[in-house]
Amino acid sequence: MNPAAPIGVFDSGVGGISVLRALRARLPQEDFVYFADNAHAPYGERPDRHVIERSLAIAQQLRGREGIKALVVACNTATAAAIDLLRAAHPDLPIVGVEPALKPAAARTRTGCVGVLATRGTLASARFGALLASLQGQARFALQPCDGLADAVEQADATKIRALCDRYIRATGQFGSNNEDMDTLVLGCTHYPFAADVLRSLVGPEVALLDTGEPVARQLGRRLDEGGLRADHRRPGRLAWQASGPTALLTAAAARWLAL
Ligand code: DGL
Repeated sequence: MNPAAPIGVFDSGVGGISVLRALRARLPQEDFVYFADNAHAPYGERPDRHVIERSLAIAQQLRGREGIKALVVACNTATAAAIDLLRAAHPDLPIVGVEPALKPAAARTRTGCVGVLATRGTLASARFGALLASLQGQARFALQPCDGLADAVEQADATKIRALCDRYIRATGQFGSNNEDMDTLVLGCTHYPFAADVLRSLVGPEVALLDTGEPVARQLGRRLDEGGLRADHRRPGRLAWQASGPTALLTAAAARWLAL
């Protein structure tokens, strides 16, 4: 593995940019290639088989064409469905995935009640089931699948984002800091941090919103160190963009969220 090679990052669309933001902040010397699989999105409402096929094809493509030295699966749904198979197919490649921040939420909540927003695919996965079971007794988790929300974020459709957030926050239950209220909200899909302002306005200022960008960036840094794979470019890291569908929304999202 060549330390000067780029790191691959993929998601079904723009969501993984919320992870990329944290990766670049922590690893500013590294080059990244971001792949948005927007011709085959959303992942969260499709069968596992589709998400697995796409994840394997993207990893293959990023290795073959870009010679990546590590891969970040910047998508909760793809991590849940495909990370074990990706690791089996590429045993020599450091692969870092994301999972909904249930552990940090359990450690943080004072009321013992936590809301979790994620895709239908993530919530139905065996991987998520095991995570939930490992925290049994530590907090109560209200799980809410959010059909259509990742797509609304993808399309930057503000009206739809607000309507869906409103519907799903109501369906999750009561937020606040009183006994029995949920005082912590897990954003279990990488698209949802881009709806954080709307979600915050609905749950109130005392509720903590947790995403996974920062822990993933720390984990990637550790994996690079273990493999002696840190880049030694005498320049700031570069970014390259690829998509399986149209690139206009991707470019606009990157400009907006990464201040490019
Ligand atoms: N951003 C992805 C995730 O973290 C999935 C969005 C989708 O394509 O449904 O789960």
